[in-house]
Amino acid sequence: MNMKDLYQELIIDHGTHPRNCCVLANANGTAEGFNPLCGDKIQVYLKIENQKIENASFTGSGCAISIASASLMTEALIGKSVQEALALSHAFHAVLVNDNNNDHLNGKLTALIGVKAFPARVKCATLSWHTLRAALEHNSKTVSTEN
Ligand code: FES
Repeated sequence: MNMKDLYQELIIDHGTHPRNCCVLANANGTAEGFNPLCGDKIQVYLKIENQKIENASFTGSGCAISIASASLMTEALIGKSVQEALALSHAFHAVLVNDNNNDHLNGKLTALIGVKAFPARVKCATLSWHTLRAALEHNSKTVSTEN
């Protein structure tokens, strides 16, 4: 199996069996993100202690790519500092939207880089990351992929 097939399998796996897909009852950072192009919404929940993300989850409805991205994102966030999470979010955006290099993206998140080949789906992949930034910044407004 080549890397492309492996990445596709990972996205299908996380899109159909998302990890950390639940409301986090004791979350102290939450936000809602919206993709107005399709109407899909994602909520992100963070439990932050001493500037460290102790737990992360999401809920919402979306296409397989948006759900896979949210699932992979929450897995990557747990245990990171708030600064590391923000840096990861900026790196993800830079790779998918600005076509920068991917030095900062590693592990399973690299599976999402292939979405760049389908420009119409980039906002699906970035929806949860927009929402993450709002949750980290305690932005209570619904954030949009179009802003
Ligand atoms: Fe709505 Fe992908 S089609 S987020």
